Amino acid sequence: MKVLTTDWNSSKDQLTFVRKQVFIIEQGIDSRDEWDEKDEDAVHFVSFGTTAVPTGTCRLTEEGQIGRLAVLPAYRHQGYGEMLLNKAIKVAREMGIRKVFLNAQTDSQRFYEKQNFITDGRVFLSAGKMHVKMQRDI
Ligand SMILES: CC(C)(COP(=O)(O)OP(=O)(O)OC[C@H]1O[C@@H](n2cnc3c(N)ncnc32)[C@H](O)[C@@H]1OP(=O)(O)O)[C@@H](O)C(=O)NCCC(=O)NCCS
Repeated sequence: MKVLTTDWNSSKDQLTFVRKQVFIIEQGIDSRDEWDEKDEDAVHFVSFGTTAVPTGTCRLTEEGQIGRLAVLPAYRHQGYGEMLLNKAIKVAREMGIRKVFLNAQTDSQRFYEKQNFITDGRVFLSAGKMHVKMQRDI
């Protein structure tokens, strides 16, 4: 298992493959919500197992926002999500960022709590899904 640190132009095919499968097909998120202007400038992460097929994605903006964390269904509960998140945090530290934040789907809140993210508990609707804002000092 490994995580590649990359950019949108270099890894667009792998990033769109995973995110389309997870967010658009599996979760039914509108493609107009999925693809935004942040992709172009963000640092991106792609995870791999033993083949060239990507297993998951994540992104980090220069403001310290982590997002688009997605692991393909067949690869869940094998540590890819945690590995992608930890890589994003490591790179954020290297960029001089002291606090990372994200908008977590409430279904995934527990996953982020296990990774020491905290929330004020205020729930809001975004892209048709209930979310909470979460953050962590790094
Ligand atoms: C959330 C997600 C990224 C987790 O990825 P993953 O690779 O399965 O996570 P890991 O294997 O690293 O999980 C580490 C631990 O976190 C916990 N965990 C994982 N997914 C969880 C979830 N949905 N809810 C609560 N806890 C969870 C478990 O304790 C897990 O350990 P376990 O598998 O031994 O029980 C993945 O389920 C996913 O892509 N979901 C759909 C997209 C999504 O909702 N993304 C988040 C948007 S905010």
